[in-house]
Parts: sequence; C-alpha cells; structure tokens
Amino acid sequence: MSTTPNIISLSRENTVSFREKLVTLLDDYKTLDAYRSQDIQHSVTKSVSDFFQSDMLLIEAELNHEGIAVIDVPEINELDAADDALLVVGLFLGLFKEFANPNINPIDLMPFTLHEAAHSDSEKLDNAGFGEIRPDAKLGFHNDGLIKENTVSIPKYIGLVNLFIGYENPGNFYWVKSSSISLDSFAELFSEAEQKSAVVQLTPSVFKHTDGSFEKYGIDTIKTSLIGKNEYGELRLFLNGSVNADKNSESTVQFFNYLKNKIQESEEKVIVPQKERRIIFIKNTSGFHARDIFESPFPDLDLSRVFVRSMDSNVEKYIPF
Ligand SMILES: [Fe+2]
Repeated sequence: MSTTPNIISLSRENTVSFREKLVTLLDDYKTLDAYRSQDIQHSVTKSVSDFFQSDMLLIEAELNHEGIAVIDVPEINELDAADDALLVVGLFLGLFKEFANPNINPIDLMPFTLHEAAHSDSEKLDNAGFGEIRPDAKLGFHNDGLIKENTVSIPKYIGLVNLFIGYENPGNFYWVKSSSISLDSFAELFSEAEQKSAVVQLTPSVFKHTDGSFEKYGIDTIKTSLIGKNEYGELRLFLNGSVNADKNSESTVQFFNYLKNKIQESEEKVIVPQKERRIIFIKNTSGFHARDIFESPFPDLDLSRVFVRSMDSNVEKYIPF
C-alpha cells in the first residue's frame, strides 16, 4: 500500500530564532557562498542542534524506520529571496550534518550542489547530451552512487530541497525501501543469467557556471555489476543512469529493466508531493527513489527550478558480484 510520510514541520518560532542567529553568524555574507567556510558550517550546525533538537530526534527516527524524512520549513514573510535561500539552505545543511558528512562538490568546493534550471537551458542541455537532467525529464527509480577512480560506492544519505519550482504541477517524489522488494530473488535471477557486468551510462553531473555555461564532471560510463554486496555482505543494487543496448547484451538490458520495473511495481511506495521549502532526506543505502516529471511551467518565466542537493561522503563500499 502506498503511504505518505509523516511531515516534520519546523516551528515558526524556532525558525525565526534560528534566522536571527544566522544573521550574526553570516556577518556580511549575502550569498550561499557563505557555506563554503568550514567555520560557518560548524557554527550553523551547532545552532541548528540548539534550536531543533526535538525535530532532529524525529528526523533520525524517520530515517531509521522509513528510510526517508520530510521536513517543511515555514515561510518568514519579510525575507527577500536571497535571505530566504540562506535560511532554507542553512537549515538544510545544519540538519544534514547532524547525521551525514556532505561531500564537497569538486567544482565550487561547496558542501552541496546548487542547481538552477531555466527553460532556455533545456535546448543547450539536450545539445550537450545532458537532456536527462532537465526538470521535465523523467527520472525513474534509482539509487545515487558516488564514483571515484572508477570505483562505485553508495553514499549513506542524500538530501535535497527545492528552493523554487516554476511549475503548476510539480508531481511527487517516490521512495521504495529495499526491504519491501525481494533482493534475494534478484540475486538468484542474476546468477542464473550469468551477467557479470553491465556498462552503465551514468546520469551526468553538470555544473552551471555564473556565465550560463555548463561543465560536466566525472566519468560517462562505468563497467560494474548491477547487483553487488556491501562490506558486510548485504545485497545491494547499483541502479544509476541507463543500461543501453549499444554497449550491453540484450539480456543485460532486460535484467536492468526488470529490476527497475520490479521497484516501480512495488505496492509499498512512499509518496511525497514535491514543493518548495520541503527538505527530503533519504537513507540511500536502504532504498530507491524517483520523481515525477514537472508539468505545466509558469508562463513567461524562464527560471524553471532551483534546488540544492547534497550527498554523504560516508559511503558503503559496493562490491560487484
Ligand atoms: Fe537521485
């Protein structure tokens, strides 16, 4: 049965107090660049702990039981967009750092990646071969991987928050826990099929510079097994990007699609309506996530979506079969 998660709504009073503290911590900073500083990250995390201790307990309980925690940040009316982004991202970062250690984005050295999408980017992204990261592209069930030196690992936690959604119908975010699907049966099928490895076309990591140009980082493809184990011998899947017929046997492509469909068909989906100021944390090692296509863009507005995403640098090793 599909469920909606408990939504943890931060109190307005605590959010206002945190914001007052944040102003003193950030000094003259007016942009998210403030959060590049380790000292500021540390102070922000400390004051998030002070103001949101009971919320933190709820978040950790949700992550442990459900594998997903959803937190809504109240609006403070008098803030302009820049101050509001500092507030929401400060809360996001401070809460995330309570249980994770954000990976540093290699391009701008920030503890998260800020994605600003515009409709006018879509054609540029398509032409550059990055079409699948467009907000209006479909993103099926997957888990997030961290690839360093051609080795796959699975970040323990992922966090994301939409600062702006320029669509009438943003649809849902979905979460399926591994325990609700039969990983064991996948492993049996896998050994029968004797598919030792697949060439996975990775979803590109693209950084948008302030001049509007795009830079892709990381590798395009990796050869690995779709099923593996972590260092404790627990079954894990690597379901990222796509497995295409041009680089794989037909049976490997079929197996990849089979895995994705099995997750898609799970009756135990957690469904979270996507909205601005809604922080989503997932325990990436214990399930798979997807989102709907964003539909009905606001008319006459080029900006389509602004969101922040962070992945944990604490990882599980992924040991291919
Ligand atoms: Fe993802």
